[in-house]
Order: sequence, then C-alpha cells, then structure tokens
Amino acid sequence: AINLRARSFLSLRDFQPREVMYLLELARELKAARMAGFEQPCLVGRNIALIFEKSSTRTRCAFEVAAHQQGGHVTFIDPESSQLGHKETLRDTARVLGRMFDGIEYRGFHQRVVEELARYSGVPVFNGLTDEEHPTQMLADVFTMQEHANKPLRDIRYAYLGDARNNMGNSLLLVGALLGMDVRIAAPRALWPREEWQAICRELANRSGARLTLTENPREAVQGVDFIHTDVWVSMGESNERWAERIRELMPYQVNAALLEASGNPQVRFMHCLPALHNRDTHIGEQVCQQHPELAGGIEVTEEVFESDASIVFDQAENRLHTIKAVMVASLGDR
Ligand code: CP
Ligand code: NVA
Repeated sequence: AINLRARSFLSLRDFQPREVMYLLELARELKAARMAGFEQPCLVGRNIALIFEKSSTRTRCAFEVAAHQQGGHVTFIDPESSQLGHKETLRDTARVLGRMFDGIEYRGFHQRVVEELARYSGVPVFNGLTDEEHPTQMLADVFTMQEHANKPLRDIRYAYLGDARNNMGNSLLLVGALLGMDVRIAAPRALWPREEWQAICRELANRSGARLTLTENPREAVQGVDFIHTDVWVSMGESNERWAERIRELMPYQVNAALLEASGNPQVRFMHCLPALHNRDTHIGEQVCQQHPELAGGIEVTEEVFESDASIVFDQAENRLHTIKAVMVASLGDR
C-alpha cells in the first residue's frame, strides 16, 4: 500500500509514478466527496504556514480553502509583512516555523531554497512554485486531462508551446515522462528545457514508455494531440525588459484558432495554468500591446481561443483546490 505520510512535495523527481497516481486518485475521492456534500475533515488541529516570496492567486487560495475545508488552519507569510529576507535568513525562519507548524507551503525562486527549507524546518514542505518546477500545478493539469480525455494516461497526447525553459515547460515534460504520456514541446531551441533536464526526462520516459518530442515546429507538435498548453512568455522573477525579445522569439508559438485547427482534432482542448495574457485588459497586457499592436488579439493565446468552448482553463484552476488538498491530506491528514 502507498503511504505518503509526512512526505514533502518538493519535486516530482522525488516520486514514483504509482505515488503520483495515488495522489490523483485521492484528489478524485476528495472532489467527489466535496461535490456530494460529505467531506470528512482530516486536517483538524493542523497548522500550515504558507510562504509566498512571489505573488499568487490560485495557489494561495487553493491551499487556504483546501485546509479550511479539511478543518486545518493556515498562516500566510510574505517578505513584506514578516522578517523573512530582511532581518532573518530562510534557514532561521525555517527552524522557527518547524517548531510551530505541522507543514509549510513555499513559493519562491531557486529550487534549492525549497529543499533547504524542508531540511531545516524538519516538517513536510510543499513546493508552491519555484523557477524550475511547479509540481502542484502538474497534479491539477494531469487530473484535468484525465477528466476531459476519459482514457488511460498512456493514450493522452499533449503539447506545450512557448517558454519551455520555465517552470511550466520543465514540469510538463517531466510529469508526462514520469507517467508514460505523449508529450510534445514546441519552442525555439534556446527556450527548450536545459540539456540536463531533458536527460532526466528521457531516462524516466525509457522506464515509463512515454513519448517525448522537442521541436521548433509548432504545427508538427500539435498534430493529433488531445490538449494544447501554454504559459506566460515572461515569468515572475524575470525582468519586464525581456518582453521585446520573447515576443520576437515566441510569436510563431502563439496559441490561436489556426493552431488548434492544425491539430486535426476537432475535440482538442486548450489549457493554461493562468494567469494568462489573452487581451489588453491587464496592466502588462496593455503595456505589451502598446509596443506590439500585432498582439492586440492576445499574447501567448488569443482572446478567441481563451474564450472558446475548447478552453478548459477554469476547470484546471478549480482542480488546483482538489489536488492540493490531496497533497496535504496524504502528508498530514488523519486517514
Ligand atoms: N497557476 C498558478 O500557480 O497561479 P497563481 O500564480 O495565481 O498561484
Ligand atoms: N511560469 C509562470 C507560472 C505562473 C503560475 C511564472 O513562473 O510566473
């Protein structure tokens, strides 16, 4: 039997495929119980610290609501309102929080920081996004693909277009490799996941039977896929000065109606971890569109695709709640 009690969730590299499948199955049970109105609280008396060194809407809310629905309690900590980073090192903060909390969620920059936090706090730590990985997002993404595709994971084909050297590109390649899926990454070579990361994924794919394709050709990547993913072209922690260069590199990888059609699958679905720049109604969207009027119809994805029936981005966002709940219940819950 699989037991993830007291386990951290730092990287998908630390997990066996069957452990990930267990979390997905637990998320399914928890979602069904919630929908049916008979959720059993398993986190009563648990205190979970939520550290965010970068902004968040979905991840923070998913951790907060999931913990509350399970009877647990959360404390939000950011650098602006705590000693973290200014007067106190993360190591010291980690040792303090470890004395008070049962678990810690952490969103920040380098992957090694979340690893260090786990080592120094001595309690389970959950990675809420680093520059390298976004593992809780992967649970929601695979869960959502399972819900919509209704077929075994090994038969699911998906493509990711855009900045594939960021946390989402790395993570989508890794999770598909781990679980034996058909993954296609389309980006300019300079924005493919790094060589070492590719090697890790290829090794996992050899074991799982996954099919991995990296290409510079977006139309080739989407041939016959069930799902097309993308993400913002400039991530948190990167300078806004990157925009001009990224637009030049990534414009051919914009997800638009023609690209969906190029999949040849009338049932193809569009996915995005969000936040998404699909029109000029945000501060950054407006700035980018002023400089690049050719992007008025959307940046990494067009407004047309984002708002179409093919788009399942809000199912995906909701599933952050159920899957993050599964991570906390598996690690910290009474079950
Ligand atoms: N997808 C995601 O992690 O969203 P937030 O940045 O809002 O948490
Ligand atoms: N790649 C994006 C994901 C946001 C959820 C970022 O890191 O900003």
